[in-house]
Amino acid sequence: MPIHVSSHPLVKHKLTRLRDKATDHRKFRELARELALLLCYEATLDLQLKPASVNTPMGEAKGWEASEVIGLVPILRAGLGLVDGIQELLPAVQVWHIGLYRDEETLRPVEYYNKLPAAPTVQVCLVLDPMLATGGSAIATVKILKKWGAKRIKFLGILAAPEGVDALSAAHPDVPIHVAELDERLNEIGFIVPGLGDAGDRMFGT
Ligand code: PRP
Repeated sequence: MPIHVSSHPLVKHKLTRLRDKATDHRKFRELARELALLLCYEATLDLQLKPASVNTPMGEAKGWEASEVIGLVPILRAGLGLVDGIQELLPAVQVWHIGLYRDEETLRPVEYYNKLPAAPTVQVCLVLDPMLATGGSAIATVKILKKWGAKRIKFLGILAAPEGVDALSAAHPDVPIHVAELDERLNEIGFIVPGLGDAGDRMFGT
């Protein structure tokens, strides 16, 4: 499944501001919210529709309505920063949180929160995490969602490392990846370079 790197000028502009170490927490959250909204617009281009008519003041107009229920699946913590912007665009979404943290030694994801109900309640899942580094967190989340019974899953993030894209595509070739930029590489401690630092810390001031 191809990786979709946004070519939108607003995405490029906002991403550059987001990376800047002089950008404070408040501005960082605002930019992440706006980037999520713009990336969601691109990631939902193939959303299914069904015909729907409405009455305008002048009479009937044939139109459309979304026929798929969308679930946002933010990976805690940093994925939370992408939820608000998307909810503005898609007010009817369901939000299902998945708690994973990356063990600092092994870089392997450790699960700590999952309250998914027994059967799937959405048709499309958007996995939200600003950073696709080794890909371990995204791979584990998609595995959880597939086991849940989710049929259509997409990954939406801000930055990806080539290592993460390769790993996620190899583990889940059916999951499209939507990001603002594909960066150069991972460094020796698993951070994306040039990246933006630790997204969770910058989002939440820790
Ligand atoms: C960071 C980031 C991703 C993960 C990416 O989270 O927000 O969830 O690492 O790395 P991966 O692709 O190698 O799995 P972190 O573990 O720092 O947790 P946090 O969001 O709670 O800060």
